[in-house]
Amino acid sequence: MEYSQVITERYSVRAYKDRDIEPNKLERILEAFTAAPTAANRQPIALIVVKTEGREQELKRIYRADWFASQPPYVLVGCTIPEKAWVRQDGHNYADVDLAIAFDHLVLAATAEGLGTCWIGAFDKEAAKEVLGLPEGVEALVMTPLGYPADAKRPRLRKKVEQLVHRERW
Ligand SMILES: Cc1cc2nc3c(=O)[nH]c(=O)nc-3n(C[C@H](O)[C@H](O)[C@H](O)COP(=O)(O)O)c2cc1C
Repeated sequence: MEYSQVITERYSVRAYKDRDIEPNKLERILEAFTAAPTAANRQPIALIVVKTEGREQELKRIYRADWFASQPPYVLVGCTIPEKAWVRQDGHNYADVDLAIAFDHLVLAATAEGLGTCWIGAFDKEAAKEVLGLPEGVEALVMTPLGYPADAKRPRLRKKVEQLVHRERW
């Protein structure tokens, strides 16, 4: 799939088919996560690949929707390790930026493979910590179901370029 098509094809998929994912597709998606740039190449990130089968009730504690816990074959959980991240002179820690870039690589790679994803930030952090066995210093930041879409793309509501882009100065 062309890069521009990947960008336009991606949407938040909130219904998934009862169909497994080919292992080579999953591997390419995981490779895309590791290929992303990170500040000072520190790579203060991690991904947890969760097979949903048999863990539906546990996963529901993290995020209730059926299309998260019961429908897709996988849930992918993006984590940061802030103490390993590059920190700017003024103290700004770049771990969240690093993870967002890597996670978007993953999401776009999934789209190119014909698979669906949906960024999820509104999950229960404490439940995630418990269910996923996160050690001290590791933070779950974003998640996505991963599977074949069972819904259709909706119209994309976006601000115009002129509303978001400032040229030369604010
Ligand atoms: C950081 C982030 C967190 C999000 N969290 C959620 C979420 O918790 N639940 C949900 O249904 N969608 C979530 N979304 C999806 C957005 O609602 C969605 O991307 C936006 O409405 C644009 O729609 P589109 O992805 O179909 O283009 C999240 C998106 C991002 C980027």
